[in-house]
Amino acid sequence: MARTFKASSKPPGAHATVAQLIDYGARRFDEAALWFGHGSDNARDEAAELVVFGAGLNHADAPGIYGQALSDEQRTKVLELFERRVRERVPAAYLTHRMWFAGHEFYVDQRVLVPRSPIAESIERRFAPWIEGDRVRSVLDIGTGSGCIAIASALALPQAKVDAADVSDDALAVTGINIERFQLCERVRPVRSDVFAGLGSARYDVIVSNPPYVGSTELSELPQEYHREPRLGLYGGDDGLDIVHRILREAAGHLHPGGILIVEVGNSQDALIDAYPTAPFTWLEFERGGGGVFVLTQEQVRRLGA
Ligand SMILES: C[S@@+](CC[C@H](N)C(=O)[O-])C[C@H]1O[C@@H](n2cnc3c(N)ncnc32)[C@H](O)[C@@H]1O
Repeated sequence: MARTFKASSKPPGAHATVAQLIDYGARRFDEAALWFGHGSDNARDEAAELVVFGAGLNHADAPGIYGQALSDEQRTKVLELFERRVRERVPAAYLTHRMWFAGHEFYVDQRVLVPRSPIAESIERRFAPWIEGDRVRSVLDIGTGSGCIAIASALALPQAKVDAADVSDDALAVTGINIERFQLCERVRPVRSDVFAGLGSARYDVIVSNPPYVGSTELSELPQEYHREPRLGLYGGDDGLDIVHRILREAAGHLHPGGILIVEVGNSQDALIDAYPTAPFTWLEFERGGGGVFVLTQEQVRRLGA
């Protein structure tokens, strides 16, 4: 049965300001017990994004815009976005078709996961201290989705060529939109590939991946917002590690000596450690939160398979 949510307070009327609409949206979202895990972690930030987007404003102009009264047309658009967010339990990014990653704005739609990997921070640091950024000539992103990791890597490492690989044609269509948007057609190549299968014998200085890593039990317990995302982007088999095992098995043969492998496994970190009790994973720490990302050198990956 469809659930209905009644707002306890009335929506702001004519001449409502940006701040009043943000307050209303935040209350409405909290009352509806929405889940926030797609770029923001609270009702207020998400309401602010929908107000700024719906009214055609810029976050960069805050706080100056908070006292600004919206036209009827702007207010109606914002209230419609609020209602869709509540009714459809859809991540806000699928309503606005945008998400920031490593400081860059990407186009997104329901063909790809909403970008949110903490790997963004490693990219901003040009993968230091694990590799010297200036010597990175080649990067492979496995499971590229929107292309956020591949494109942000290309922007951080202007001398590198990047393969943006995904098994999903739908996802690769979105990757292509973003490659064009950032005018990176010369350096970022979308490739249809099932893990390494479509890449021949290519080798890279950096292999980076945010693969699907959600296990069966965790998937069934995820809030509804996650079920709006492509299942192919989330589900990693019973224990979540199907794709990760394949990456670990084959990565050594696709890395240059001195190269590195960086993979996000999120909540499947413990399962991975259990599966490879002697593996020398280094688990990265992030200032902006998130975790479950390991790095291994080419030599360490090679020894795992030996
Ligand atoms: C967790 S999403 C990550 C998307 C993007 N890299 C990001 O960080 O937002 C995982 C991606 O892996 C892709 N994928 C799933 N199975 C794959 C496979 N066997 N080979 C390559 N890509 C795969 C999915 O289509 C999805 O785009």
